[in-house]
Amino acid sequence: MSSPDDAPLSEEQKRFTDLYVSGDARWDTGISPPELTEAIQSLSPGVALDIGCGTGTNCIYMAEHGWNVTGIDFAQPAIDTAQAKISSHAETIAAAGGNVRVYCADVTQIAEPAQRAQLLLDIGCLNGIPFAKRQGYAQTAQNFAAPGALFLLYTHMPDPQFPGRPGCVPDEVDELFGQNFTVERREFGEDRGAGSFWTWLRRKG
Ligand SMILES: C[S@@+](CC[C@H](N)C(=O)[O-])C[C@H]1O[C@@H](n2cnc3c(N)ncnc32)[C@H](O)[C@@H]1O
Repeated sequence: MSSPDDAPLSEEQKRFTDLYVSGDARWDTGISPPELTEAIQSLSPGVALDIGCGTGTNCIYMAEHGWNVTGIDFAQPAIDTAQAKISSHAETIAAAGGNVRVYCADVTQIAEPAQRAQLLLDIGCLNGIPFAKRQGYAQTAQNFAAPGALFLLYTHMPDPQFPGRPGCVPDEVDELFGQNFTVERREFGEDRGAGSFWTWLRRKG
């Protein structure tokens, strides 16, 4: 298997790809979290971006609520599964007036989007990205977010139990995005050992 541009897989891309192939992607519950469902209830449908979309559960949820969704993930098996799931939800998505497409790419290296999004979602992607690549991620978020967009970000804290996942702390989120986004809200959870947190960011502009 190769990466989107036929270059060899990076170490982290291979790790995620293998987890999907072996069926060990334990985050892949098929359930959208209340933080997302509440946001969708409070917003009018528009354009959404799911960063590190995995097998597309949340893309489909948003599309079934009328959103025009793009999902990006660098693990091809996850994208293949997402495409199959999207096909099997085609009727409910169309009935809601939604639309969804997913593609395989590294979110730290994406060119300018054709369309800007009113809603960005990342559940557990940023915290797995090596520190040296996080500026590229921040650039993608900045490029995709329309002025006033909501960026709903869920991150795990660093945890020695998970050496392959560098983790993220609130100060880093504030520093990475502070120039272009305002932190509106933050909530901490106890998920898996070292903990996790949600951040509600608002694109300035
Ligand atoms: C913990 S999983 C969460 C997946 C999905 N958001 C969910 O909630 O089911 C993190 C996802 O981010 C993807 N990912 C990690 N780094 C990435 C990168 N640099 N570019 C694109 N996808 C990435 C992984 O392949 C994986 O599917």
